[in-house]
Amino acid sequence: MSQNWVLTVGKKDLADAAIEAAASLEPAPGQAVVSVDRVGLTANNVTYGLLGKAFRYWDFFPAPSPDRGIVPVWGFGDVVASTTEGVAVGQRLYGYYPMAGQLLVTPGRVDGSGFRDIAEHRSALPSPYNAYALTTSDPSYSLEDEDLHVLYRPLFFTSFMLGDQLVDQDFWGAESLAFSSASSKTSYGAAFLLRASGRHVVGLTSSGNVEFTRSLGVYDDVYEYGDLDALPKVPTAHLDVAGSSDVRAALRASLGDALVRESIVGVAHQEKASVGTLGDPRTVVFFAPDQMRKRTADWGRAGLDQRFAEAWRSFAPFARDQVEVVVSSGPEALREVWLEVLANKTPPRVGNVIQL
Ligand SMILES: NC(=O)c1ccc[n+]([C@@H]2O[C@H](COP(=O)([O-])OP(=O)(O)OC[C@H]3O[C@@H](n4cnc5c(N)ncnc54)[C@H](OP(=O)(O)O)[C@@H]3O)[C@@H](O)[C@H]2O)c1
Repeated sequence: MSQNWVLTVGKKDLADAAIEAAASLEPAPGQAVVSVDRVGLTANNVTYGLLGKAFRYWDFFPAPSPDRGIVPVWGFGDVVASTTEGVAVGQRLYGYYPMAGQLLVTPGRVDGSGFRDIAEHRSALPSPYNAYALTTSDPSYSLEDEDLHVLYRPLFFTSFMLGDQLVDQDFWGAESLAFSSASSKTSYGAAFLLRASGRHVVGLTSSGNVEFTRSLGVYDDVYEYGDLDALPKVPTAHLDVAGSSDVRAALRASLGDALVRESIVGVAHQEKASVGTLGDPRTVVFFAPDQMRKRTADWGRAGLDQRFAEAWRSFAPFARDQVEVVVSSGPEALREVWLEVLANKTPPRVGNVIQL
């Protein structure tokens, strides 16, 4: 088993990132150890840190000391030790991992598609984050697209559920759908799916990202944040991925009553306290697992997986053409990429994958 380590950050200072040596993990009966192999880093992971306390993201992978946290990442890991029937050394699993060399899991609901980590400290946390999917039976997995999977899967799942909620709610009556942080993977994944919706799909972005956002070809129009006065005064839903109070205020001033819905999806601009004008009946918080629960009840788990796999198959070739995957190696590279993404120094075209 390889040497273990964890990358911890200061809960109050996410730029205070340190690699700490950790004991190699051994499974007790009914457990397994997964070696974390290949993970991605995007603004989404920074949001896990920013909202670590409020949304309990710190609780998935407790850090050695209470003032420090381990930021979750998505990716692939390999089972390196197991005392659980149905979980075998060599199995490759997609899921939610710590920034660490290894993860100890207590597999429950083991079946042909993988398992859930039923460890006590994760039991009250949202269940989609506790699922580990075997690559061998995942309908949206392919070896050649592993890096796309690492980078986009959690984000495109949100894009898919967000687009689905819009359709489900008849777009809240909006004729225009305006995405802030339109250059983000979460936004342009949703815009990709909504091209055929019959709605006007608009991207809002920072001046430096206008050209990239236009080049995606998924938005009917792209505006920079300084030009929101020019937005057409038609019923508009704001899919707020930036989480910026300035952008929200500018949209309210520009659109007035034509702003029919403000759905808070993310906080890419790192305004931690920015959860919108809650109390305004137009404002809702979007949390992908909520819509997922609704559709699991409507379609069944297999029906949801099938629909997602179809959407993914249509999106993957597009994503392959948009993203420049940059692969780096080892824990120290993970630390450097974390600091780069945290400082918003990663160009939107770059997708960071780290081989650990
Ligand atoms: N609600 C949910 O269930 C859910 C699920 C998945 C993701 N999300 C959220 O969606 C957001 C986007 O995540 P992503 O991984 O798709 O992002 P990404 O692809 O890494 O997006 C990068 C873009 O985010 C903006 N950005 C990032 N850091 C910034 C900073 N420090 N200052 C200003 N702008 C910054 C910039 O866009 P612009 O210049 O265009 O503003 C940048 O081009 C995150 O907040 C994430 O947590 C929510």
